[in-house]
Amino acid sequence: MVSAFAIRSAVQEDAATLADLGARTFRETFEAICSPEDLAAFLAEAYGEAIQRAELADPARPAWVLEIEGVPSGFAQLRLGHREPCVSGRRPAELQRIYLLRAVQRGGLGAALMENAVERARAWGADVLWLGVWENNVKALAFYSRCGFREAGDHVFQIGQQIDRDLILVKDLP
Ligand SMILES: CC(C)(COP(=O)(O)OP(=O)(O)OC[C@H]1O[C@@H](n2cnc3c(N)ncnc32)[C@H](O)[C@@H]1OP(=O)(O)O)[C@@H](O)C(=O)NCCC(=O)NCCS
Repeated sequence: MVSAFAIRSAVQEDAATLADLGARTFRETFEAICSPEDLAAFLAEAYGEAIQRAELADPARPAWVLEIEGVPSGFAQLRLGHREPCVSGRRPAELQRIYLLRAVQRGGLGAALMENAVERARAWGADVLWLGVWENNVKALAFYSRCGFREAGDHVFQIGQQIDRDLILVKDLP
């Protein structure tokens, strides 16, 4: 377990940091399974300072940055009130992103980011937390299973021209 870390709310000034962390982690995680063109197209659509700035301006999309000795190393982001048809529940929240740089994975930090996200979703009044995960992302699936998520359905996830299947996982927040 890494000891000197902190999780804090992301603010507008963190837009470039989140864009960088998101793009780097996505690249590290998925560059082996998609073409450079598809990866570049996806990253251009999903990450960039202006994109994250707009997201952070939306109160329904709060994010938290994890820092190790002051160095941003991961983040998590919720989409409050967003749902897929297979997600039941009165007041759902999506865990849209939970990303840690590869160099700091498997040290318990993902679990800390998850605990914070669950707490924040609960504080907002969510009764279910859900997420989409690529069906072959074995590491993330093991992590989510350990965090108490179960499968509820699937949806299509597109990286550039590449069509993948994401599993929808849910965790009740009683
Ligand atoms: C998924 C992710 C957030 C998990 O964070 P992490 O810090 O690596 O995970 P933790 O160390 O907190 O692991 C908690 C538990 O989850 C399970 N787990 C985590 N990573 C695992 C792996 N690679 N293989 C098997 N089990 C794993 C274990 O049960 C682990 O507990 P243990 O270490 O006591 O055995 C992180 O690895 C990550 O950002 N990966 C790349 C991006 C990604 O795929 N994000 C999810 C997209 S949907």
